[in-house]
Amino acid sequence: MSIKDKVIAITGAGSGIGRATALHLASLGGRIVLGARREVQIASAAEEIQTAGGQAVYRSTDVTRRTDLETLVQLACEHYGRLDVLVNNAGIGPISQFDALRVDDWDAMIDVNIKGVLYGIAAALPVFRRQEAGHIINVVSTAGLKIVPTMGVYAATKNAVRTITEALRQEAGPTLRVTEVSPGMIATSFADSMTDEAVKLAIQERSKAIGISPDAIARGIAFAIEQPSDVDVGSIVIRPTAQD
Ligand SMILES: NC(=O)c1ccc[n+]([C@@H]2O[C@H](COP(=O)([O-])OP(=O)(O)OC[C@H]3O[C@@H](n4cnc5c(N)ncnc54)[C@H](OP(=O)(O)O)[C@@H]3O)[C@@H](O)[C@H]2O)c1
Repeated sequence: MSIKDKVIAITGAGSGIGRATALHLASLGGRIVLGARREVQIASAAEEIQTAGGQAVYRSTDVTRRTDLETLVQLACEHYGRLDVLVNNAGIGPISQFDALRVDDWDAMIDVNIKGVLYGIAAALPVFRRQEAGHIINVVSTAGLKIVPTMGVYAATKNAVRTITEALRQEAGPTLRVTEVSPGMIATSFADSMTDEAVKLAIQERSKAIGISPDAIARGIAFAIEQPSDVDVGSIVIRPTAQD
């Protein structure tokens, strides 16, 4: 088994973990379909892949819109004839203490981190059933494994996806693989999605001190994909050695 020629759609593919995963999988011969809201970022990732001799297409995608996920999956099927893997990676983390009552941020995390993943599943599942093959990979977080102050709602969204992933795995049957990947502190622009300035600064400092490259997550995702089709890697946790 290998990644060569697999058609892999990735949400949130314009930066951080999504971009690193797109570049890594493309370097292994995967055909990549990139989605995120900022078209300029996914276009530049696609160009980087193509310049290196790989294959990639992109479409501006907001995961809070169900039709956008349907269009992204459709792009894979129309351009490459199939979809082998969907990586539900798009996510935001405008974290804060409950007392701050940043209810709009809670809503946004629920919309992107939970509903966005569900819309991805809804778009890809019929294609995977028709093909009698497919792989859904959901990016969750170690924030859901060790709960800390300020991360309550964010962790809850990630653990909701953990639950969804396990339930989907149980319903999947022998032709669908389902994987969750839990990154720890990764050096990306993730803190940019934070709206509480003090929290944002603290996370940025922590990320600078111990954050590891998003390439580590890309390698973990590649490991799950490159297993034989009867091997389902259920869960991968990758965190900095220095993370407590
Ligand atoms: N960095 C960490 O320490 C860490 C740790 C654990 C888990 N994670 C998870 O890893 C995933 C990737 O995060 P990252 O660290 O790579 O951060 P990032 O660099 O900020 O990437 C997040 C990506 O999601 C996209 N996105 C945000 N809202 C979206 C929406 N509504 N529709 C489509 N795309 C959207 C962003 O692009 P646009 O703004 O252009 O849409 C961006 O490409 C997230 O699910 C995050 O929760 C990160």
